[in-house]
Formats: sequence, structure tokens, C-alpha cells
Amino acid sequence: MPTIRFLSADGTEFAVEAQNGRTLMETALENSVPGIIAECNGSAACATCHVVLPEEIMLALGPISEHENDMLDFAEAPRESGSRLSCQVKVSDALDNISVRVPAA
Ligand code: FES
Repeated sequence: MPTIRFLSADGTEFAVEAQNGRTLMETALENSVPGIIAECNGSAACATCHVVLPEEIMLALGPISEHENDMLDFAEAPRESGSRLSCQVKVSDALDNISVRVPAA
């Protein structure tokens, strides 16, 4: 079971055990990570699940969809090079021990 290290906007770390196949958004909600709202419940339609991932993971995950790319422009916090919608990223062993930052709104 991979460990995901969510970093909230105030710097608090939430290290949680995540199930492969669940999304980062589901994992964050199940563990009450602050700052992940997920208004659209994972439909990639609200951008309230915005997170910032490390560069090396961005490369490993491959290109994001055009729709997700467009939606990230509507995130409340400024977009960064590691920005993703956490509802569109599935947990896998490749994500073990990564830091997932929740940007300040
Ligand atoms: S939960 Fe709405 S875009 Fe991810």
C-alpha cells in the first residue's frame, strides 16, 4: 500500500496509506486533508481538488488530458508546473512516498 504525504497549505503533513486504484482526491477526502473540496465529486469540472506534484512524478504520469489542462486554469490557487486535478490521478505504487502539496487558495 503506497504512502502519500499530503502537505496542507499551512505546512502540516498528512502521511496516509492509500489504496491503489483510488484517486488522490478520494484518498485526501477519506483522510480529511484540508483544502481538497472536490465540489464536482471527481468529474473534473470544478478544479477544487487542485494539488501540486513533484516534477519527477509529473513526468512518470505522462501527459494530462486536454480537459484537465483547461480546468486547471480555473483553479483558485495559481497554476504551477506540477499542478494536477487530484481526482484525475490514480494511486499506484509509483506514487509511494511522494509529497502532494495542497496550494494556498
Ligand atoms: S473533484 Fe472537481 S475537478 Fe476534481
